Amino acid sequence: MEKLVIHGRNRLSGEIEISGAKNAAVAIIPATLLAQDVCRIENLPNISDVTCMFKILTQMGAQVKIINKHTVEINTKTVNSYIIPHEMTKQLRASYYLIGALLGRYSRAKVALPGGCNFGVRPIDLHIRGFELLGANVTVENAMINAKADYLTGSSIYMDKVSVGATINIMLAAVKARGLTIIEHAAKEPHIVDLANFLNAMGADVRGAGTDVIKIHGVQNLHGCTYSIIPDQIEAGTYMVAAAATGGDVLIKNVIPKHLESITAKLLECGVSVTEYDEAVRVVSDGKFRKCNVKTMPHPGFPTDMQPQMAVLLTVANGTSIVSESVWDNRFKYIEQLVRMGANVQVDGTIAVFQGVPELTGAPVRADDLRAGAAMIIAGLMARGKTEIEDIIYIDRGYEDYVEKLRNVGADIYRKTIVPEGNKMGSAG
Ligand code: UD1
Repeated sequence: MEKLVIHGRNRLSGEIEISGAKNAAVAIIPATLLAQDVCRIENLPNISDVTCMFKILTQMGAQVKIINKHTVEINTKTVNSYIIPHEMTKQLRASYYLIGALLGRYSRAKVALPGGCNFGVRPIDLHIRGFELLGANVTVENAMINAKADYLTGSSIYMDKVSVGATINIMLAAVKARGLTIIEHAAKEPHIVDLANFLNAMGADVRGAGTDVIKIHGVQNLHGCTYSIIPDQIEAGTYMVAAAATGGDVLIKNVIPKHLESITAKLLECGVSVTEYDEAVRVVSDGKFRKCNVKTMPHPGFPTDMQPQMAVLLTVANGTSIVSESVWDNRFKYIEQLVRMGANVQVDGTIAVFQGVPELTGAPVRADDLRAGAAMIIAGLMARGKTEIEDIIYIDRGYEDYVEKLRNVGADIYRKTIVPEGNKMGSAG
């Protein structure tokens, strides 16, 4: 086990290259099951969620050939099962995309309920309803989702709530269904568009992704393709905030600035300078921030996955800032850790009120989940003194080489092996 050690107050300066999008990758990898052919995927992030997805596909019988750090070739022709047990799904929330992909391929799927980040109840009723509207019979028994149909038929599906996961899962199931599927009130996140582009590269007919109506004409067969994943919006946003928080000057490269607009807007409101280029943004800050209010919303609103990172900046902004979390019911658990570092925050349900303090001070803290962990890193970089972060396994799930990327721009951050109490010299009784 490892923890992170950060000595704060170094001003970040230089360039950071953004990796491929985690949330696109974890949808696109299962989508290869639909082709029964070889797909070459490029610009994959080298993170444990992706490795985990490879492991699951390999255990299902697929051939996953690693070409280099960011490119794989996946041949799913040899897959011979539609059953995925709990041991394979428990580490990864996105394992539920296997339901849609297997349903699309076999009209059958038996998949254990997923694991992943724990920020409140994470229901999948909208996914199930979508599969049912496509003609599948879905039951949940012994924590396994069992979905089956003779064949799937296109349908009109209105989503009661905007859901990224349900939109993706329905797209996966519908691409080979008979006839037309219309998803209304669909999610519009960049990775929804990326998945649609990937499916179309395999020969699917998906239109309207990125708007709230997605139309899918079912096709009989899909074929292999070569596809390069979009840059990670949240990784980019995280480094934008880190640069700002340390009063830094960082050029963040390999991004799609359009995907970052809501984050850019909030940083500008706080008094940070953000300059957009074709495929980069430059963030410059003097380390002084104005208060601002943030409300998380589905895309193109401010992403909930940037809420904890942005909140760190608000702990030291001048005045009172309010953060409203409107996507998840329980996403302020990490604030307890910020309070240990000197932040002044009151939480009431899905609202957090930040009274700016002059500075944070380093402390031992933990990563409660992936983005909470990213927030702790930013807090540690900004704070006076030493911060140690435990449970960093969550951060490894979603950020490629973050220690190296941050060290390259001047951060004093390193991993340290945690020696279990019993193994320490002299501690044996
Ligand atoms: C995805 C992201 C996650 C991000 C979230 C919102 C991936 C792998 N994960 O998660 O990082 O925080 O989008 O941007 O892409 N809901 C229901 N019923 C359902 C499904 C969802 O009520 O069947 C609710 C959820 O409880 C939540 C809201 O809808 O309140 C949004 O969830 P959703 O967009 O589905 O999130 P995920 O796809 O799980």
